[in-house]
Amino acid sequence: MLKKTKVAVLISGRGSNMEALVRAAKSPACPFEIALVLANKPDAGGLATAAAEGVEALCVDSKPFGKDREAHERAIDAALRERGIEVIALAGYMRILTPFLVDAWEGRMLNIHPSLLPAYPGLDTHARAIAAGEVEAGCTVHLVTAGVDEGPILGQARVPILPDDDDHSLAARVLEQEHRLYADTLATFVTGRLARA
Ligand code: GRF
Repeated sequence: MLKKTKVAVLISGRGSNMEALVRAAKSPACPFEIALVLANKPDAGGLATAAAEGVEALCVDSKPFGKDREAHERAIDAALRERGIEVIALAGYMRILTPFLVDAWEGRMLNIHPSLLPAYPGLDTHARAIAAGEVEAGCTVHLVTAGVDEGPILGQARVPILPDDDDHSLAARVLEQEHRLYADTLATFVTGRLARA
């Protein structure tokens, strides 16, 4: 039987990318399983979605840790290791990571970003792309390194910017591609990892 790679998805909000990964993982041929969904905020909407899909949903609230971001990450790291997690997928996880988590999971932590990196890292990508007169937007899955939205690119999907697009309409069309791209790229990534092991 196919040995599925255990993936944890880290979220801060609605978790539509997380949901797309959970749904993809339900296919018997999918090489990964979503073994945990972890949020840094108790009100992250994706926690209820994950639980409804039958996936363990855990909040490691950052609040009690105050400004000590590394201590919060150590608690996250412990939860991941307890469950034998092999790969992390960040999906709308809105906290900048410290070198602790980045180094601990080097080469095993992916992120999705709603632009064609290296263009438009950071926030408000769609509004900035439209304001700059771009004709094309998209999304990128990349490995996480110390720099925000940097790191080797694993996959991209392109989306045309239409003349009457605003940031909402563009975000909605890019999001559809994010859901497809993340599941496909994660599957290719974990398959490659197993082949290299
Ligand atoms: C997505 O656009 C993702 O690319 C970005 O944050 C958003 C999260 O949306 N990193 P969701 O929580 O997956 O619906």
